[in-house]
Amino acid sequence: MSAIAREVVLGVGAGIAAYKSCDLLRRLQDRGYAVTVVPTPSSLNFVGAATWQALSGRPVATHVWENSHEVSHISLAQRAHFFLIAPATADLIARMSAGRADDLLTNLILAANVPIMIVPAMHPQMWNDAATVANVATLRSRGYVVMEPEIGRLTGSDSGQGRFPQVSSIIERFDQLTGNLRDLQGKRILISGGGTRESIDPVRFIGNRSSGKQATALATAAVLRGAEVTLVAANMDTSSLDTLAVHHVESAAQMHLALAKEFESCDVLIMCAAVADAKPSQSTIEKIKKAIFTTIELEPNPDILAELSRKKSQQIMIGFAAETSNLITSAQAKLKSKGLDVIYVNDVSDGAIFGKDTTSGTIITRNGEEIALKEVSKDALAHLLLDHALRQLG
Ligand code: C5P
Repeated sequence: MSAIAREVVLGVGAGIAAYKSCDLLRRLQDRGYAVTVVPTPSSLNFVGAATWQALSGRPVATHVWENSHEVSHISLAQRAHFFLIAPATADLIARMSAGRADDLLTNLILAANVPIMIVPAMHPQMWNDAATVANVATLRSRGYVVMEPEIGRLTGSDSGQGRFPQVSSIIERFDQLTGNLRDLQGKRILISGGGTRESIDPVRFIGNRSSGKQATALATAAVLRGAEVTLVAANMDTSSLDTLAVHHVESAAQMHLALAKEFESCDVLIMCAAVADAKPSQSTIEKIKKAIFTTIELEPNPDILAELSRKKSQQIMIGFAAETSNLITSAQAKLKSKGLDVIYVNDVSDGAIFGKDTTSGTIITRNGEEIALKEVSKDALAHLLLDHALRQLG
């Protein structure tokens, strides 16, 4: 079992609201949950296995007979920390309440010993039927969390209590149940992001291709998990980050200054920014004329991370590296030379990674752990790095 409890089985029953669970799955992933979807066989009439596989990035099974050599109902039930059944139909609720095990999902539910939340959605008459009322009462008496469906218009012209609740309400209730997303409460996390620009003259600069998307993912994930986050942002879009403290900087020198000011009071520094290795020895006030703009004399920028790590006391320090060759060996050398706890190295040959929503690379820790990632979302990487920070903070 991983240190952070967030392996979720999303059980999908055969209701039209199954399509809304596609969005629910996405929002769960945004919040750092790792989700395996287990649809009932009839629910595939509404949303097919291919959709669930593509959205979850994981295999999808509906019967115990698939991959039976793995005894998947037992292994999945053992791996999951929580179950979320959404939508739950009257039939699925009846089968759960009777303890039946006639598909993979109901087998899993019987085999699991973890909190289970149920989100019913059905016609009001089915919801209010004495059998459903009794089944819901049975499930609640066994400790299942059963949400109340919303009141309003149904798929047809009828209205009443039976609508699938808003995805945001489901997430809010589920977060309360899991309680795992406030695991960074009280921790101060300092993040740098974007790419620095070194001025040549009022018009030109030396920059790089960093978009700031990974830093945005890190800041968002850390805020969601309850951390107090400060972002030092170099030339990146911070419009989605209006709830946290942001220092806007342009150059490496400005970034150095801002980070040095904040470093002492942070618990974790995540140095995600692409810092220019060198800057023009002179930046002119006047635009340099084309005819004489032939060479730029450079001088090195300070290595901010290496410098801050010399001042560190208890802080956990995480660095990034972008390489085009010898990825692992150069990242291991940087981990040591910069005094880091964790480094994430990505392969940026052919312009990969920059500006994209996904990343491929390797997490390397000072204990020698290596975790290779292929085409994972930058949100998922953010949560994995925060997991490492949390583990090392103890
Ligand atoms: O040495 P390299 O640039 O590959 O190292 C990458 C890591 O070091 C990143 O975390 C980056 O933010 C940080 N760095 C720094 N100061 C520099 C150059 C890189 O803090 N001048």
